[in-house]
Amino acid sequence: MNDCFIINGRVIDPARKVDGRHNLIVRGGRVAEWTQARRGPTGVPVIDARDAVVTPGWIDLHTHLREPGEEYKEDVASGVAAAVAGGFASIVCMANTKPVADNASVIEHIRQQARVAGLARVYPIGAITRGLKGEELADIGDMAAAGVVALSDDGKTVANTRLMRKGMEYAATFGLPIVDHCEDPFLCAGTAMHEGAQSTRLGLAGSPAEAEEVIVQRDIALARLTGARLHVAHVSAVQGVDAVRAGQEEGIAVTAEVTPHHLLLTDEVLAGYDTRCKVNPPLRTAADRAALRRGLREGVFAAIATDHAPHTSIEKDVPFDEAACGMIGLESALPVCMRLVTERVISLCRLVELFTIGPARTLGLPRGRLAVGDDADVTILDPRAAVVIRSSAFRSKSRNCPFDGWRCRGKVLYTLVGGRIVYRAGPGGRRQ
Ligand code: DOR
Repeated sequence: MNDCFIINGRVIDPARKVDGRHNLIVRGGRVAEWTQARRGPTGVPVIDARDAVVTPGWIDLHTHLREPGEEYKEDVASGVAAAVAGGFASIVCMANTKPVADNASVIEHIRQQARVAGLARVYPIGAITRGLKGEELADIGDMAAAGVVALSDDGKTVANTRLMRKGMEYAATFGLPIVDHCEDPFLCAGTAMHEGAQSTRLGLAGSPAEAEEVIVQRDIALARLTGARLHVAHVSAVQGVDAVRAGQEEGIAVTAEVTPHHLLLTDEVLAGYDTRCKVNPPLRTAADRAALRRGLREGVFAAIATDHAPHTSIEKDVPFDEAACGMIGLESALPVCMRLVTERVISLCRLVELFTIGPARTLGLPRGRLAVGDDADVTILDPRAAVVIRSSAFRSKSRNCPFDGWRCRGKVLYTLVGGRIVYRAGPGGRRQ
């Protein structure tokens, strides 16, 4: 039926500058009416959002689903189950699967698996280069026809500037943004963390922040040259923020995202060689984290994106140098990012914007709002509920979560996709 009546909630819909008490009638999977009436249509299920915040369905711009090829880490079904438990109604998934999503058949496979799972909406990204090898372009036209929403070699940087230019020209032709992994592969070859005092202390090879800076600057120059839309993934350094800001001030079509882990952690957490904190780009210094937070406040970033990167004990419980990079993030994003609100870095409304209309606009997805007629993708959350992050309870198949055991505020109560309840919290989560 996909009808319901959501009452008593504080509705935050940043796209429409709404923050107030409203009741929403959902009919046929769409937002049918905003009302102050306390009685809904007869026979329609009621969702009581008392003490809760009702927002457009959250969108993650950066998820690794690992299917096809590494389903022991995650598959589409477990990935979307984790997504909806984290409040995400839509996720955008990266191309670094095995085989790589560099052709229409892999894209169609992912979309088909998402349809079967029937939880979150899944928007696949196609590779820029075949096999992510950086040697020749992937089947961009075929993938555009198969419905990719962007192109990215995420996980790797396209080292060859000429090929990147070509990729951007094709992307522009098909109206697709480029999602850019910005780390100079020569500067970061053989490194395991950020280069600085901490890497010296730990005796690990480090990658300087300039590895990010040179590629962000290069690709902004190429966006100027080609007219392509550029989205810089997981910005991690002062230099990256400054380069994106400069590009935006020049009027170039460049957007950027930042991850929860770069906003909350620094390379200090590597003191015990905890491989859960090994990630690309690496966790950097307190000064970098402060610059990222400033960028959030000033609007340099359009989105917070999880970079959910599942790995198992096989890849992580090994010496630091050999461990795989990445951490999961879908099911910890809300409570972890609520720290930014409780620490008064940003407001709750801005946080909601960064997970809804911000990412939707970045990739041109028809989501992120609750206007009458829109698909009723809705996230209902209790921002004050006390939670302890327990990765053992996650729906993801992987457990590589550096926030395990953190005491936070913020609990997802419901996730709705097209008016259908796809996640509902069990009991637990205390108010104090
Ligand atoms: O740490 C990372 N892990 N960074 C990436 O860009 C890729 C990701 C992965 O796929 O594991």
